[in-house]
Amino acid sequence: MASYVAAIDQGTTSTRCMIFDRGGRVVAVNQKEHRQIFPKAGWVEHDPTEIWNNVRQVCAGALASADLVTGDIAACGITNQRETTVVWEKATGKPVYNAIVWQDTRTDAIVNQLGAEEGQNRFQEKTGLPLATYFSGPKVKWVLDNVDGIRERAEKGELLFGNMDTWVLWNSTGGPDGGLHVTDPTNASRTLLMDLETLQWDPDICAEIGIPMSMLPEIRSSSEVYGHFRERGVFAGVPIAGILGDQQAATFGQACLSPGEAKNTYGTGNFVLLNTGTERVISRNGLLTTVGYKIGNNDTVYCLEGSIAVTGSLVQWMRDNLGLIGSAPEIEQVARTVEDNGGAYFVPAFSGLFAPHWRSDARGAIVGLTRYVNRGNLARAVLEATAFQTREVIEAMNADSGVPLKSLKVDGGMVVNELLMQFQADILGVPVIRPVVNETTALGAAYAAGLAVGFWESEVDIRSNWAKDKQWDPMMTEEVREKEYANWKKAVTKTFDWVD
Ligand code: G3P
Repeated sequence: MASYVAAIDQGTTSTRCMIFDRGGRVVAVNQKEHRQIFPKAGWVEHDPTEIWNNVRQVCAGALASADLVTGDIAACGITNQRETTVVWEKATGKPVYNAIVWQDTRTDAIVNQLGAEEGQNRFQEKTGLPLATYFSGPKVKWVLDNVDGIRERAEKGELLFGNMDTWVLWNSTGGPDGGLHVTDPTNASRTLLMDLETLQWDPDICAEIGIPMSMLPEIRSSSEVYGHFRERGVFAGVPIAGILGDQQAATFGQACLSPGEAKNTYGTGNFVLLNTGTERVISRNGLLTTVGYKIGNNDTVYCLEGSIAVTGSLVQWMRDNLGLIGSAPEIEQVARTVEDNGGAYFVPAFSGLFAPHWRSDARGAIVGLTRYVNRGNLARAVLEATAFQTREVIEAMNADSGVPLKSLKVDGGMVVNELLMQFQADILGVPVIRPVVNETTALGAAYAAGLAVGFWESEVDIRSNWAKDKQWDPMMTEEVREKEYANWKKAVTKTFDWVD
């Protein structure tokens, strides 16, 4: 009897395979980073072939690290960086262009043109999304318009589009030899092409953006047996039984299963998701409406989402581009050498600003500099940027839902940073809570897969597996909190209008 469930987490900077037991505990993990390709300012690409090779390696690595064999794995789930766009040849599996990453802003002109007459929110009622460079549909259009001969081939049905979930599933299930061209509604809801109510591609929007529907994967639920790993290779014969975009997976893994429950994941960017149940709340305050999960034939659960493009990647930038720290964790040590930010505020609008602003014309700024400011103050400003941006989206959420959030569950790489967690609680004015198993993204995908094959019985198992590790309570005075936040808001306004 197989005792474990695996999850492949294909993220923005790395790919991981994790294996969990019935209690939701991590049994094995293997991880590999891939190249970040920056061909021009504002452009970000990944090599899909490199990523697929990494998927195979980390699956084999995870099994080996825990002395397990394929027969120990009851099912595997897939979770992924969302929106990142791959177009490939059906006959060969060869990508026609690098993957265009969610952070990439090259579709700026396309989205401006699409919104020129009817505005940025013309597709919002149907898709839950504003027109922005973030989403996949305009990225597909860019490939069709800019790679020679590709549009004709797409129209002839020779090419396939997928986000990373689909790319991994198609390759895992046979590639050109019968690979499944399938996605789930959480990923599809990030393309600007799916109707949130019917969970189907919208023909009018596809026509408007200029995307042949023959390229699009079939949308199935987030938890069902789609198929099996191909016969030769790692995990041969194991059912692939769950797909969730990474932020929705973290929401599921954090057991935010009832309306009103929310989590914040601190990764490359930050993503706050609030479960709104079966109701689709259309945001009036700059948030996204997105599919939270759809478990088999159960009703669709929706979320409001506050997406922040740059948080953890700002720490990496400080390490790689400025050399101010030697490793990402070192930032906490450097920040602790000083008492405060010294008056400096860092707005990391590297990909424009996402929620709640949606300003693709914004670019990053450090303001408030004086001769007094040192490396420690800048390290603080970098960490504080994450917490301030989180407050902006939580305020939008409170305004949209009318019910102020009482506490925030957190997960992701940066939640080991105690200074940041305390500052987050201070600047929000509500407790911040970290679970014992912080790997909620992979865990959420494992849950989706495990539910489909009966490894876990129901969502009750997910709730009972969740346990609190640590809580930070606000300690800042109201006066300081509001003053700091007002300074931040002023700093944000300095980043607008940098790109025509
Ligand atoms: O929408 C982008 C998001 O899915 C990326 O997540 O964890 O890879 O930064 P992450």
